[in-house]
Amino acid sequence: MGSQKQGLMWLTGLVFLNILVLSMADVHHYEFFLQESNFTKLCSTKNILTVNGSFPGPEIRARRGDTVFVNVHNQGNTAVSIMWEGIEDSNNGSNQLIQPGRNFNYEIELDDKIGTLWWHATSAWARATVHGAFIVLPAANEDYPFPTPDSDKTIIIGIYIYIYMEELTEANQSIALGQSDVYTIDDHTGETNGCSNDTMFEYQVDYQGLYIVRIINAVNETMVFGIASHSLTIVGQRGAYSRRSFTNSLTLAPYQVIDALLCANQNLGHYYITARPSSDTTRSTAGILRYTTTST
Ligand SMILES: *[C@@H]1O[C@H](CO)[C@@H](O)[C@H](O)[C@H]1NC(C)=O
Ligand SMILES: *[C@@H]1O[C@H](CO)[C@@H](O)[C@H](O)[C@H]1NC(C)=O
Ligand SMILES: *[C@@H]1O[C@H](CO)[C@@H](O)[C@H](O)[C@H]1NC(C)=O
Ligand SMILES: *[C@@H]1O[C@H](CO)[C@@H](O)[C@H](O)[C@H]1NC(C)=O
Ligand SMILES: *[C@@H]1O[C@H](CO)[C@@H](O)[C@H](O)[C@H]1NC(C)=O
Ligand SMILES: *[C@@H]1O[C@H](CO)[C@@H](O)[C@H](O)[C@H]1NC(C)=O
Repeated sequence: MGSQKQGLMWLTGLVFLNILVLSMADVHHYEFFLQESNFTKLCSTKNILTVNGSFPGPEIRARRGDTVFVNVHNQGNTAVSIMWEGIEDSNNGSNQLIQPGRNFNYEIELDDKIGTLWWHATSAWARATVHGAFIVLPAANEDYPFPTPDSDKTIIIGIYIYIYMEELTEANQSIALGQSDVYTIDDHTGETNGCSNDTMFEYQVDYQGLYIVRIINAVNETMVFGIASHSLTIVGQRGAYSRRSFTNSLTLAPYQVIDALLCANQNLGHYYITARPSSDTTRSTAGILRYTTTST
């Protein structure tokens, strides 16, 4: 009898909790403007397709259970559709092209997804520059199933296609890489090129800080990612928490996303962040993890 009563109370509690989670869900509205923008990299200026002039595009942030509307306005010259990797959009929008001058309002319901997902143009040629992170935080009353991080950072591994970026068309359904193409961390090409406009990705951390690093492989190749002298703890993949595992470097399959914990527990200083294709150790790109000094 007692245990039955307890069971009932437990059940009532669960139902109440669910209602609480649902009633606290938010609705977010994002406006994306697909537009051609000039970017100077590798000593030359190219016209590339971007969202709101940025590459990678804007980051979406919502909580588990929220609804997100993304109104995509196509101000470019070619038809494009956007895919929400690992998430269904309620209007079946990923199947239809948005013609130049038109818009489409995607509706995304975040039922039980958690962690880092991403969005990208559906066609191979456009997704090289039209992509960004889609971050699903725990619901307002939920905790992480690991120590609460101080903050988080998205790192998108991409590729900058040097030759005729502006000539890529719907016809380029699979992109063959050339020798002049470089891998990027966010939009940074790293230090390998000697062009004054090329910069290195930099990530500032506090000593003893705990961070979620959200690594998105936006490249159609298996990539190896690592931070010198630091190990990473994998905590999430594919919109779900995963079994924790420790590693010195991450191997990401094409278009894979991994959430990892980083503890800034080394000597103050700076450390290389590297990303390279697993097939070629010579073509890596680098960024820097920099410990902030207490005086600043
Ligand atoms: C994109 O640009 C438009 C127009 O400037 C702005 O209203 C909108 O908020 C921007 N969207 C994002 C996600 O930054
Ligand atoms: C990009 O640069 C070209 C050549 O300098 C210029 O004609 C064009 O207007 C620029 N486009 C944008 C979107 O700024
Ligand atoms: C760097 O960018 C500036 C302005 O964006 C441009 O005037 C300059 O020519 C660029 N330098 C190189 C080496 O491309
Ligand atoms: C979504 O699009 C596909 C392909 O165009 C179609 O077969 C399917 O019926 C659509 N689903 C809905 C719910 O509209
Ligand atoms: C993409 O397609 C265009 C037109 O078909 C072609 O001129 C260009 O060389 C292609 N680029 C790549 C990288 O395949
Ligand atoms: C990714 O690469 C594979 C194998 O090279 C190719 O078959 C596929 O079309 C590529 N996908 C995209 C989106 O480029």
